[in-house]
Amino acid sequence: MAVMQWLAHGEHEVPVDPDWLSRREREYAAGIRFRKRYDEFLTRRYAAKRAVAAVFDIAPTAETMATIEVRNRPSGAPFLVMDGQPAPADVSISDRAGWAVCLVGPVGSMRSGTLGIDLEIVESRSERFIDDFLTPAEVERVRAHRVGEERDAAANLVWSAKEAALKVRQVGLRHDTRTVEVEWSTDAGVDGWCRLRVSATDGERYRGWWRRDRQFVLTVAAVDDIEPPALLGGNQGLQSARPTHSWLGQPERPR
Ligand SMILES: CC(C)(COP(=O)(O)OP(=O)(O)OC[C@H]1O[C@@H](n2cnc3c(N)ncnc32)[C@H](O)[C@@H]1OP(=O)(O)O)[C@@H](O)C(=O)NCCC(=O)NCCS
Repeated sequence: MAVMQWLAHGEHEVPVDPDWLSRREREYAAGIRFRKRYDEFLTRRYAAKRAVAAVFDIAPTAETMATIEVRNRPSGAPFLVMDGQPAPADVSISDRAGWAVCLVGPVGSMRSGTLGIDLEIVESRSERFIDDFLTPAEVERVRAHRVGEERDAAANLVWSAKEAALKVRQVGLRHDTRTVEVEWSTDAGVDGWCRLRVSATDGERYRGWWRRDRQFVLTVAAVDDIEPPALLGGNQGLQSARPTHSWLGQPERPR
């Protein structure tokens, strides 16, 4: 079975000096006006470069990290480039509340769109949100939970798994979130990961995993059946992560 590897980094770990970015990334980042989007872009890139460096056993210096890029197809879907050439591994990235995660697929595979990762926090979701974005079966299961934290946790888990699956499908939220339906187990296995399954209205099926780390909910989905994602060596995952919203006091980037 294919082995996926992941890690997490917080925005506070992102180096201030941008020499770890490629020229193309520096140019893109320079054009981002809002601090939230800028910080999110950098944190996603930092997590991705650190993950790819670890998977390919590359020392993560500024110089080597600048040669690792996650570029985007016109759909927004990511693909990996190393030293200017498409690289043999699939990646997916996500960020939420000051933290970014990256999932790297099996090295040697040039296929992209085989996997998706999504990070959310357990936040309040309205009854309207549940009715509008979830399928009837998901609504029933989410509403079986008491109103409050329990129901919010279930609603955010379903939402996150949908996003992970829609990333595998390379469509993101362009597609109706009710075109994919999530089923999930609450039996935690290896490293706290629980199973999930996603079925799409066109008959496609995805397998994946989810986990809860305090306020964070993390989901992964893949085309193939996958083992619970393995945390890359030396990384703490989301174990001590706390949501941060540092951009709130300063929405625009200082120029
Ligand atoms: C995919 C999507 C649901 C993720 O939204 P989000 O929850 O705000 O953001 P996340 O942090 O979880 O994920 C962002 C990453 O998703 C990935 N992504 C974006 N579009 C994607 C797609 N169509 N398929 C797979 N992955 C996608 C990217 O790697 C992106 O990070 P990057 O831009 O730095 O490379 C959303 O971006 C989307 O629906 N995109 C497609 C529609 C769209 O509006 N596109 C405009 C930009 S081209």
